[in-house]
Amino acid sequence: MTFLFNSDAKRGAIFAEAFARELPDIAFSMDPKSVEADGVRYLITWTVPDDLARYRNLEILFSIGAGIDQFRIDAVPASVKVVRMVEDGIIKMMQEYVTLAVLALHRDLPTYLDQQRRRTWQTIAPVQASERRIGVLGLGMLGSAVLERLQPFGFPLSGWSRSPREIDGIRCLSGRDGLDTLLATTDILVCLLPLTDATRGFLNAELFAGLPAGAALVHVGRGAQLDHQALVDALDTCHLSGAVVDVTEPEPLPADHAFWNHPKILLTPHIASVTQAETAAAAVIGNIKRHQTGLDPIGLIDRCRGY
Ligand code: GLV
Repeated sequence: MTFLFNSDAKRGAIFAEAFARELPDIAFSMDPKSVEADGVRYLITWTVPDDLARYRNLEILFSIGAGIDQFRIDAVPASVKVVRMVEDGIIKMMQEYVTLAVLALHRDLPTYLDQQRRRTWQTIAPVQASERRIGVLGLGMLGSAVLERLQPFGFPLSGWSRSPREIDGIRCLSGRDGLDTLLATTDILVCLLPLTDATRGFLNAELFAGLPAGAALVHVGRGAQLDHQALVDALDTCHLSGAVVDVTEPEPLPADHAFWNHPKILLTPHIASVTQAETAAAAVIGNIKRHQTGLDPIGLIDRCRGY
């Protein structure tokens, strides 16, 4: 029985060591060319390989990342469990990045950076955290972890998800009406939604119009959720005050794209959160052990929902 690792060799070496220690009965391979295809029961990868069908006995297809939207899931046989990456490293990095982004917007960092470039010494009246309402779209593992990390700052915190959720200390909203309420009462909107047909183009002109004037955006979901022109228009008309954007479609952006030089946008190259090999290996090994005892792996994808 083989575990096939189809990603970078550096993280692969860390996985190999953990597998040798924890699951010595499973052969570990990083080489799809030499592996005996019928023996492959587990595969971890970022994209689904074109020759997936050769792994006839595949039981679990693991994503090396937090999302599975890059998978052509229809091409994966129904008998194969598809599992996204749920591991502490990703969660901690996302907590850091969103805290950084929310605080940057809360303390007007994009404006001060722009002023610095223009040699302008000018203060902006500060707003107390208790007056800055944060709204998080998506209450999965990342959305709820981010809200937990933001709690000590004293921001009023809300979250929105498709189906109802309850989280201590957080105003949780759901459904279409809940979305309208969340938007109308949010000063900094954080997008942590998974990419599905329902969320493609979600961050558009209509959604921005539902936010109060002066609101700001942190986009750490997926690039295809954001209408770039709608964001630029909302910033240029001063309806929105700023944005921190980590994901775009395409990645990288073309050299002449409006985001590069926009004074109200802080842009980073999809680095908010990256799978950490040690904690990811432990999570995958834990999931294989669960699977071997008949339990569902953590992060199992519901094919109907798409995440
Ligand atoms: C990165 O975006 C990931 O899915 O892990």
